[in-house]
Amino acid sequence: MVSSISHMLLTLLSTSLLLCTYFHFAKAQGGSQPIVHGLSWTYYDSSCPKLESIVRKELKKVFKDDIGQAAGLLRLHFHDCFVQGCDGSVLLDGSASGPSEQDAPPNLSLRAKAFTIIDDLRRRVQNKCGRVVSCADITALAARDAVFLSGGPDYDIPLGRRDGLNFATTSATLANLPPPSFNTTSLLTSLATMNFTATDVVALSGGHTIGISHCTSFTDRLYPTQDPTMDKYFAGTLKSTCPAANSNNTAVLDIRSPNRFDNKYYVDLMNRQGLFTSDQDLYTDSRTRSILSVLTGSQGEIRANCFVRNSDNVALLSSVVEKEKEAWSAF
Ligand code: HEM
Repeated sequence: MVSSISHMLLTLLSTSLLLCTYFHFAKAQGGSQPIVHGLSWTYYDSSCPKLESIVRKELKKVFKDDIGQAAGLLRLHFHDCFVQGCDGSVLLDGSASGPSEQDAPPNLSLRAKAFTIIDDLRRRVQNKCGRVVSCADITALAARDAVFLSGGPDYDIPLGRRDGLNFATTSATLANLPPPSFNTTSLLTSLATMNFTATDVVALSGGHTIGISHCTSFTDRLYPTQDPTMDKYFAGTLKSTCPAANSNNTAVLDIRSPNRFDNKYYVDLMNRQGLFTSDQDLYTDSRTRSILSVLTGSQGEIRANCFVRNSDNVALLSSVVEKEKEAWSAF
């Protein structure tokens, strides 16, 4: 079954639109979607009108030096949102009450620089407007700009999130951020608890179109035995990057265009070059494979009118007949 949403998944635009929806920040489908009570498209219009331009201008500079930071910011927002909602809790330092979310295993590989960038943005915004914009909103805007400035689409974000007072425990963090070793069944079960569908899971995983991973997140697919679902040449390249299961190196998540927010991640999966089990199994499991499927090469056709098959398109057929007549009359 290929729904209109899954069609969108296979394009750059759609991937991001879906991501936006999940984080409750897209003015999706022409602004007709209801947004969370308390959020607004104009929230800081009078208290901090320059907010979005401050963030974008600064991130343009940051990414010009190192586009890799875009992936770090996108992942930071995901890890913030999936644990207790988008409340900036992942940013909180630990306290006497216990280790922070940052100390939980899935967050240990968040980029330290992503936290510094958020803090720098917060300082700039605060200098201009005072303490009116939440860290959670700044993180959401930074993720949006990370997508846009690495080649993805732009989108509006409703704002007005407040920063949380508490961070989640390690066990709550672990329960909400699935590990890369999950297969599709586990992934669907885990994300269903947050009301995500199979289509949602395929779209969200599209975030892996940018960024890197440490070897330890995927070497269970290489050692002691090689995962047979992985392309052999790809496995060989990964083995030279990660000569041992616990190597300290990193590999890119999307071998075709590691720094570009595009649809190549899905092409990787179709070529059995997904890095994690949680990625590659989306193309093995029939429930998600059908969402990913796309016609290429000589399959299908290029429609003259998006709403009509060419074989049913009377205008197209008669124009072909006209052209053929012209071609014959030239002889
Ligand atoms: C569906 C379940 C997901 C799993 C199991 C997963 C797992 C992972 C893992 C293990 C890494 C590499 C960590 C490391 O070793 O350095 C990673 C990186 C990344 N993930 Fe995910 N992730 C998931 C969903 C998402 C979502 C929803 C997004 C955003 C929409 C996302 C965005 C990223 C990005 C951008 C990176 C690269 C970060 C960087 O370069 O610093 N992931 N993910």
